[in-house]
Parts: sequence; C-alpha cells; structure tokens
Amino acid sequence: MMPILTADQITKRYGGVVALESVSIELNVGEVLGLLGANGSGKSTLSSILAGDNRPDAGLLRVGGVDLEPGSPAAARAAGIAIAHQHPGLAPDLPVWENVHLGAEICGPGKFLNRALARKKAGELLESLRPHWDLDAPAGKLTAADQQLVEIAKSLALEPRVLILDEPTAALAAAEVESLMRKIGVLASHGTSIVFISHRMAEVEAVCDRVVVLCNGRLAGEMAVSERIDEAQVIAWMGGTGGGAAAAHVHERGHQTEVRAPSLQRLRGAHLTTGDAAAEPALSARGLQAGTRLRGADFDVRQGEILGIAGLQGHGQEELLDALAGYRKLDEGHVKLYGAPLIPRSPRQMIDAGVCLVPNDRHRQGLWLEQSVEFNLAQVGVNFEKHAWRLRRVSKRRFVDDVVARLRIKTSDVRQPVRTLSGGNQQKVVIGRWLDARVNVRVLLLSDPTKGVDVIARKEIYEAVGLLADAGAAVIVYASDTAELLAVCDRLIVLYEGRVVAQLEGNDMNESQVTSALFGRSAA
Ligand SMILES: Nc1ncnc2c1ncn2[C@@H]1O[C@H](COP(=O)(O)OP(=O)(O)O)[C@@H](O)[C@H]1O
Ligand SMILES: [Mg+2]
Repeated sequence: MMPILTADQITKRYGGVVALESVSIELNVGEVLGLLGANGSGKSTLSSILAGDNRPDAGLLRVGGVDLEPGSPAAARAAGIAIAHQHPGLAPDLPVWENVHLGAEICGPGKFLNRALARKKAGELLESLRPHWDLDAPAGKLTAADQQLVEIAKSLALEPRVLILDEPTAALAAAEVESLMRKIGVLASHGTSIVFISHRMAEVEAVCDRVVVLCNGRLAGEMAVSERIDEAQVIAWMGGTGGGAAAAHVHERGHQTEVRAPSLQRLRGAHLTTGDAAAEPALSARGLQAGTRLRGADFDVRQGEILGIAGLQGHGQEELLDALAGYRKLDEGHVKLYGAPLIPRSPRQMIDAGVCLVPNDRHRQGLWLEQSVEFNLAQVGVNFEKHAWRLRRVSKRRFVDDVVARLRIKTSDVRQPVRTLSGGNQQKVVIGRWLDARVNVRVLLLSDPTKGVDVIARKEIYEAVGLLADAGAAVIVYASDTAELLAVCDRLIVLYEGRVVAQLEGNDMNESQVTSALFGRSAA
C-alpha cells in the first residue's frame, strides 16, 4: 500500500546546528507512528516540516504520492495535514472556543462565521478530552495542561487525514492522557494516520504500531511495536550507543557533537578540588516539593560550581527553579544558603539573599521589551539602591557599557528597545544585569537559557555564566539539550518524576548515562 505521507531525505540547519540530516520516514494509512528521541534530537523540527510550518533546506515531501510544497502551511492543510504543536500557539485574549477554530472558521451560508455551531463543536471536541470547560474564558488564562488540550482540539477540528501530535501528553494529567489515547485509537481505526511524539514508553506502547528513533538529527533506528517495546534498544538508539543499524552514528558522534555545538567547552571544573567538596555548600536543598511535578528533590551546589539539571519536559525542573527563586510556593522541603535556613517567599526576597533567576520565558518574566537595553540592564541595580535618585548617571552608563562590551551584546545604541534585539542578545541582557556589582549573586539559576538561541550566542551566554561562577556564584542550570549540559557543567543531576534519580560527574557524565536516567533507569 502506498504511504499516505513520505518525507524523503529531509535536512534542516539552523546556522551551524544540524537539526535534521537526511531523514526519511513513511507513514501508512491508519498507522500510528511513534517519533522518539532525546531532547534536541530534531522531533519538533521534523514535525513542523511535515506540517508545512517550517521549510527544510533539502528533501521532498509527498502526500498520497503527490509532491507537497515545502514550507507552506496552507498546502499542508489542503492536503489534510494538521499539527498540535509542543508549545501551544493560542490567541490569549480570544475565548477558548474561538481558539479551537482559529484559522479554520466554520462558515455558514453566505460565508458568515456560524458562531453558535462553532461554539458547540468546540465544546464537544474539548469535552471528549476532558469534562467541564468554560468555553468563554480567554485562552491565556488557562493552565498549561488546558492550553495543551485546546491546541490538540484545534488540530482535531480540522478533521485531518494526517495528524501530528508533538509531545501532546507532556503537560497532561493521567485521566486526560487516557482520553487522548482512546481518541488516537478511534481515529486510527477510522483511517487517520498519526505521528505521535512522547517520552513515555507506556503511552508509545499503548498506541503506536511502529516507532522511529532520532539521535542528533539522524534516523537511528526503527522497530514495529507489538505487545511490548524493546525499551533498552530504543534508549540505546536515543543515546547514540545502539549497535547494529546505529553503529554508523556511534562512529560519527564525536564529529557530530562538534557540529552541533562547535564552541561550547567545559568551562569549569579544573579548579574544583576535594577541599571545595568538603566546604559548606552554597545552596543545599532537601525534600523540595512544589505543585504536582516536583516531589522531593535533594541536592547541593558549591561555590563556583556549575551544576546541571537534566530532565524531560514536565519532570519538575521548572518548578524547582521557580520555587528556589521565590516565583512559586514551595510546598515542602528545606533550603539552606551557606548553612543558613531560608524559606523562599518572593523573588524580591530571594534576590536580596543573592539567589537570582534567569527565567525560562524571557519575554514574560525577564525583560521590559519596550524599554531600552540600558534600562533593562540597570533596572535590577536601581531597585537595589536605597537611594536610587542618587545613582549617578555616569556610573550607570559605565556599568551598562561595560556589560554590553563584555557580553558582546549586539546593539547599535544602548537606547535601542530590547524588543528589537535577536533572541540571543535579549538573553544576554537578562544575564548581564546580574553582573551588576551592587547585586551580590551567590546562586545563579538558569532555566533553559539558550532555547532558540544560535550557537555563537550560546557560547557567549555560557561565557557570561562562567564570569559569574568565577566571581564566586554557585550556578544551577537546566537546559533541555543534554549535549549542552555535558559541555558546560561540572556536575549533573537528573530529575525523573520530580526526584533526583542520578548524580553524575567525571567519567559518569556522558550521554548514555544521562539518557538512561532521564527515563528513570539506573545506568546499564
Ligand atoms: N528556531 C531555531 N533556531 C535555532 N536552533 C533551533 C531552532 N529550532 C530548533 N533548533 C535546534 O535544533 C535542534 C533540534 O531541535 P528540536 O527539533 O526542537 O528537538 P526536539 O523536538 O527533538 O527536542 C536543537 O539543537 C535545537 O536547539
Ligand atoms: Mg520538541
């Protein structure tokens, strides 16, 4: 039988990063294909290319044997392809029900939007995933889980022939996952073809007919799923250590890692002696619990050390950093800063104590977008002056110019609005403000600081982090890209279901150990 969807030799680069290298897959009619791979292996890039939201540098797409124009969402939609993105793209001010039909408005006679019918349909779709919706609430007010469900409903509303679900379950509760699994089963039995991305093997086992595994942007393996999935094999493929078909990748991995991150080097480590290890930790955390995801994490970080946190999406790392920074309530647990107990209550209090966060979402938590580079860099410092009005213009200007030069922030003028900088340069501004000598940064927390940032800016960002560590800060960094953590950290902890399941350093700090731990396995 002819495949419904074919991707032939798809290649995609972002600057120096090879996100996909000659990847070919086929999807059969009524098949549920699992797309697996570690963070950063290229799953979302491939999904968005299949859905026309992203243009490949090379390669061909075919639907039902007919060439599909690449990089055209309209062409993909006309061919019957729909996608629910990993990160929901909803219109925050529009009501839930309108979001479900966004871009595919139901038109009645005379092409007027049939609002009543659309609202009713949206309600039915959503209720099939979870009961009790307020259809008129603005989508921006929903929880992350509900936004994910609306994103899924939006793709279902198109009644596609090919449905792509990019980590649809990462944010969902168990009952919602179950409804979605059932829905996928029903759709497939009616002939819908589905690409399903998840890190949870039980889900993959439950719905997928076959899986393909990506590793560093290449196809590392493929297998049919019968009753059980050969999890050890899948994990080996993901970590680039699988034998057989994947051997070629092992061979090339040294080279490949270089392509992905040419200039990230182990920044630190050499100076950390056993004497340091015996010293009082800069920050020590015991039994940290917050929300439903962080369920009892224990760890220490020392002065001058860069501690990496690895975890699959939704395993508590964001809650952990937010709680330590005072952005969200800690439900249980103890935190000590250089031996002194401390209960995080607010960001302001934690900054006062020297615990500073570079947040995950720099647009919402990190920057005043309409304000200048200068304002954004100096703002925290100004907050700290007991007598801000006495701050002399020249000293502020000197600090700002100094940070811009040290971090190589590319701006034509420090009065330029931050909104107009590139993502990497915006992130440097967020980090740069903590270089202000008036803020004594004792613990720097970073939440996925290089998300969507090019390789050169990545290197510069970690150099900035290194400056703070050299100045005596303890650094805790979560990054979704394991290779990046391995490159820049002295030590790694791995979170799984809200707990630290592995602490890795020295020779144990390698991709296959991390990958096993990410799935809750002790390393083989
Ligand atoms: N818009 C982008 N700009 C630069 N690099 C990107 C962009 N999108 C993805 N990447 C990079 O491409 C690689 C693959 O990313 P992605 O497809 O999101 O992986 P996955 O979904 O498997 O976690 C990563 O190294 C990521 O940092
Ligand atoms: Mg992804």
